[in-house]
Amino acid sequence: MTEPDIVCEGLVRIFAVADIEVQALQGLDLRIDRGELVALVGASGSGKSTLLSILSALDAPTAGKATVAGRDLTTLSARQRVDYRREVVGFVWQQTARNLLPYLSAEENVQLARAIGGDRSNPARAKELLELTGVAAVAARRPAELSGGQQQRVAIAVALANDPRVLLADEPTGDLDEHATADVLATFETVNRELGTTALIVTHDAAVSEHVQRTVQIRDGRTSTEVLRSTHTDDEGREHTVAQEFVVLDKVGRMQLPSEYLTRLSLRERVRLELNPDHVGVWPGDAGASAGAGAGAPQPPTRRALREQAEHAAQGEQKGATDE
Ligand SMILES: Nc1ncnc2c1ncn2[C@@H]1O[C@H](COP(=O)(O)OP(=O)(O)OP(=O)(O)O)[C@@H](O)[C@H]1O
Ligand SMILES: [Mg+2]
Repeated sequence: MTEPDIVCEGLVRIFAVADIEVQALQGLDLRIDRGELVALVGASGSGKSTLLSILSALDAPTAGKATVAGRDLTTLSARQRVDYRREVVGFVWQQTARNLLPYLSAEENVQLARAIGGDRSNPARAKELLELTGVAAVAARRPAELSGGQQQRVAIAVALANDPRVLLADEPTGDLDEHATADVLATFETVNRELGTTALIVTHDAAVSEHVQRTVQIRDGRTSTEVLRSTHTDDEGREHTVAQEFVVLDKVGRMQLPSEYLTRLSLRERVRLELNPDHVGVWPGDAGASAGAGAGAPQPPTRRALREQAEHAAQGEQKGATDE
């Protein structure tokens, strides 16, 4: 098995502003395999841009581990950071002005990025990349003469100029209308399919999950849920797409319950857990428990009790099976 292209383990980023600390990332775990196209969604302030700044080596984590294409980002020297940003990753930002130089044509923007990367061979490559992203017809125009969607597709070509292993995009469709958004997301799909570039796209757009195999949700600085999309063909040859939602469990067993579950069942502070042969049940702590650990408050079952319960249940099942 090849190493995943992006690995984050227990990533923490704390910003200290005056006397206040903001924990933007609170032990985030993420693995993205080589060649995957993944969307990262989450509410404003959940830590998406903080994560992308770290993955693009613009910022360093307070604690934890981040590895991209086999490079440990926590130990890069200043020089290595520059090389990393030039050779390993490509970026697309939300503001088109940050991606493109206004006084150069689309094609010149891509050529310049290649020259900065030190690659002067194959002068036709810039045009090829613009073809791949569907904007070759407007290669001679400057950014101001392009629509927002076209500018972002040129920006993707610029990000790909030096054949990076990983493409990172922070809200690349944030300033676009629905139609242009669909075009840009489809372009990421094309790039991922044709070049095999691993891509992580941050977005607010719920429609993104239709364009990617995996959507990772981040909540309060941790990955919370994932939606996996798979396509299968039925007996009559019709294609069906199934999306399944999963909760992310970290190495030591922590997970976040979806907030709507918490509200619906009034789950807070303490919950009761029950281990069953094939699943774990979660119940609200009994009434009064939320008042704190009062003497009379019911205790959650001990691990031993849970194990015994599970063994008991498993034995029952085995017995049932042999009785037949
Ligand atoms: N340089 C900084 N200094 C202080 N606090 C910061 C800094 N950058 C981010 N934060 C804080 O960290 C948290 C996460 O911010 P981040 O920008 O990563 O969120 P986001 O998910 O990208 O949000 P949005 O969807 O609005 O772009 C927020 O509470 C934010 O205020
Ligand atoms: Mg952001």
